[in-house]
Amino acid sequence: MCSIIAYKGYRDAAPLIVRGLSMMEYRGYDSVGLATVHNSRLVVRKGVGNVGHVNARLNLDGMYGSVGIGHTRWATHGVVNDINAHPHVSCDGRVAVVHNGIVENHVELRSMLTTRGHIFRSETDSEVIAHLLEYLPTPVVYDGNSISKALLDLTSMLSGSYSFVALVHDGTLVGARNHEPLIIGLGNPRKGRDGMLFADECFIASDVLAFIGHTDKAVFLADGEAFIVREAQKGLSIEVYDRHGKVAKDVTQVAWEFADIDKGRFAHYTIKEIHEQRDTISRAFSIEGSRVHEVVRTLLASRRIVVTGSGSSYHAALMAKHLLSRICMVGCDVVVASEFLYSMDTHYVDDDSNCDHGVGPVLLAVSQSGETADVLDAVRMARSKGFRILSLVNSPLSTLARESDLFLSINAGPEIGVAATKSFTAQVALLYRICMEMAKAMGRSTMEIDIGNPSMHVGSILEGEEHIASTAERIKDASSVYIIAKGIHHVIALEGALKLKELAYVHAEAIHAGELKHGPLALIDGKSVVIALNPMDQTYRDMLTSVHEVKSRGAYIIGISDAESSLYDTILAIPGVEPLLYPLYEVIPLQLLAYHMALKRDCNPDYPRNLAKSVTVK
Ligand code: F6R
Repeated sequence: MCSIIAYKGYRDAAPLIVRGLSMMEYRGYDSVGLATVHNSRLVVRKGVGNVGHVNARLNLDGMYGSVGIGHTRWATHGVVNDINAHPHVSCDGRVAVVHNGIVENHVELRSMLTTRGHIFRSETDSEVIAHLLEYLPTPVVYDGNSISKALLDLTSMLSGSYSFVALVHDGTLVGARNHEPLIIGLGNPRKGRDGMLFADECFIASDVLAFIGHTDKAVFLADGEAFIVREAQKGLSIEVYDRHGKVAKDVTQVAWEFADIDKGRFAHYTIKEIHEQRDTISRAFSIEGSRVHEVVRTLLASRRIVVTGSGSSYHAALMAKHLLSRICMVGCDVVVASEFLYSMDTHYVDDDSNCDHGVGPVLLAVSQSGETADVLDAVRMARSKGFRILSLVNSPLSTLARESDLFLSINAGPEIGVAATKSFTAQVALLYRICMEMAKAMGRSTMEIDIGNPSMHVGSILEGEEHIASTAERIKDASSVYIIAKGIHHVIALEGALKLKELAYVHAEAIHAGELKHGPLALIDGKSVVIALNPMDQTYRDMLTSVHEVKSRGAYIIGISDAESSLYDTILAIPGVEPLLYPLYEVIPLQLLAYHMALKRDCNPDYPRNLAKSVTVK
């Protein structure tokens, strides 16, 4: 998605903005731009490319001024070119705007503004905001005292999801959010006698990662709120408004987890995050008890459980179904978030849902970012149908966390690589924990499981990394990779296939091993690469039959297993772990394989093409 950052304070704005934009590149980028105010004039530089390239070409961080805005674009409306890059500027050149989201009524607004003489330069929906700021009856650019009214007039004209920041030529920053994140980081915040908020410097960004290196004090804007940051006698004043008037905001201390944002000794965030699973799985297993118990109580009391998520988080939701059934003998439905709207007929619950013995239906939403638009839409729809909302998130400050009746943090720390790795295993570990606690509460003591030493298990898989890298070299030119599995392992096959697709741009497909003979076997020949997820459990024997089927058609077979077999051309070994927990670790060799294939195929694993980390548009 697009990323926004603005700075106003006593330092040079441009280097801070450029650094903030690179911290948010995980959200997607295809072009980059900055505007600063220098000698009361707006200066804009923008172009196609990632932050490093555009900065090298246009010397972005050499721009003058102690106030500025910056943007990385992830195109939705209008092709990727220099003109469509943000910031966009009003006709009179006195206001520049950066925007994230979609202005749904931009066609109507553009035609209204065009008939009033405004000249548009770009094809973007975002440019209407710059022109509206100039056009409004009490334009922001001309009348400092009426800014709040102008801003609220503006937001009432926009429909869709957006967050934007506008830089006015006098150095004022204004903006608003609606269903897209916007957070104000404050350097040395303090309150005046009337509750007015002041600071020495302000960062306004789509993600706290953009400014966490400078301050851990932040104000979180709510949907429908607008802000103004301008010079005041006591420093910078920060005013927040909604349609009822001024809003008193609290300053939040942002959690320590956000501080760990360096690559350290690793070449990429993705591999760093894969290695971090030594700690993140244990952390997720040992989340603080009382909140887990509350989730367990709610799930046990609910008359129906639906689990949702997107991408890897959807795969975690599928794991939830297997684990609830296996460990607790409790059934649930899983709906991929983007399909929620279309499957609501089957999940519709009428007014008797709040029955005597329970809490009615429950939606468990799983999301790393907590900002995925499809997930938030599913949650809002479910709530309107009487569902109680539980969620698992990595960001406790996210919209999903705030909109849930109860949320648990998976506590994995920032995940910068676009592909989900440690967040997936942390989600799954926490789901194991929830299911084990549920089984205990149900008196199913036979299901008590020793989680052992997750760090050691991850460590011994990581020891095989060199072998995995040479396997990646062996298969790097494959045009397709098939991952066959049975039972719960099929979910891991889905997740592994997703990693191969997004990191290494190789077509990869998860296949229920037993389904091979019903069609996919026709694809297998001497050039095929087949990965068999073949643990020594109840799926083992039947899996061997399927492996024979593909082997006899000449496929190159990679076994991922805790047991050797002469059928494999090579094996990626999983050391002895508790059988019930095995799937949690089984995904790690697949993550490593995808990462190393990406390197061999010259793909940037941290920032796969066409993808963004937080998918905040539908
Ligand atoms: C896959 C991946 C995406 C996300 C999906 C959901 O590696 O990263 O498929 O899993 O966009 O994102 P969250 O979990 O933030 O809701």
